[in-house]
Amino acid sequence: MGLMSYIGEQFHKPTGFGGRLATFVMNKQNWRQYAETESVLELRDTDSVLDIGFGNGYLLNRLAGRYNCRFYGVDISPDMLAAASHRNRKHIGGGKMTLSLGSAEQTGLPDGLIDKAYTVNTAYFWSSLDAGLSEIWRVLKPGGVFVNTVYSKAMLDDLPVTKSGYAKYEIDEYLKVGAHNEFSVKVRPIVEGRSYSIIYTKQEIGG
Ligand SMILES: C[S@@+](CC[C@H](N)C(=O)[O-])C[C@H]1O[C@@H](n2cnc3c(N)ncnc32)[C@H](O)[C@@H]1O
Repeated sequence: MGLMSYIGEQFHKPTGFGGRLATFVMNKQNWRQYAETESVLELRDTDSVLDIGFGNGYLLNRLAGRYNCRFYGVDISPDMLAAASHRNRKHIGGGKMTLSLGSAEQTGLPDGLIDKAYTVNTAYFWSSLDAGLSEIWRVLKPGGVFVNTVYSKAMLDDLPVTKSGYAKYEIDEYLKVGAHNEFSVKVRPIVEGRSYSIIYTKQEIGG
């Protein structure tokens, strides 16, 4: 495996020292995406909140320090589960957060548990957008919201580490698959042409 593929793989499924390093770099580079995701979520203390693909648990830790919500998180990487659990040990020990191995496509959570779900830079790695969005629809309460923060296809195309293993979707594709899964969908630019939050709302019953 070449160096660029190795680095790309560390963003897909961070493992060992390379994974810890990649997620540390991510935390520095993606501050604007984290801030926008937090702002769009408009968390209230009564919300149950799900982070899909939490990486080293940086954003979960920040949100749990600010809001008295009930937090859940799933990630496919055992090493990230260990890192995020260590970082968030106070919140986990206090019963405010539950982290587990799982995926966007199979969270392992019960139907209708979640008010607000979010993910930052994981949708490129899902087996399909449809599989992830239909699972997220299942775990959301009616009226629940999912914020999917991504880099654009154009931005990903410019990066040397994303040549393989990344599904690079046009923003229209995120909208189309959301509508197919009965979400109402809006887009909020973070940096026009480069980064966006896609906001999916599960309609209220009868709404
Ligand atoms: C680029 S990192 C982003 C980490 C974190 N969201 C952040 O922004 O700091 C991608 C993360 O998604 C996880 N991941 C990859 N595929 C996934 C899937 N299908 N479902 C859930 N998590 C996944 C990886 O293990 C990794 O921790």
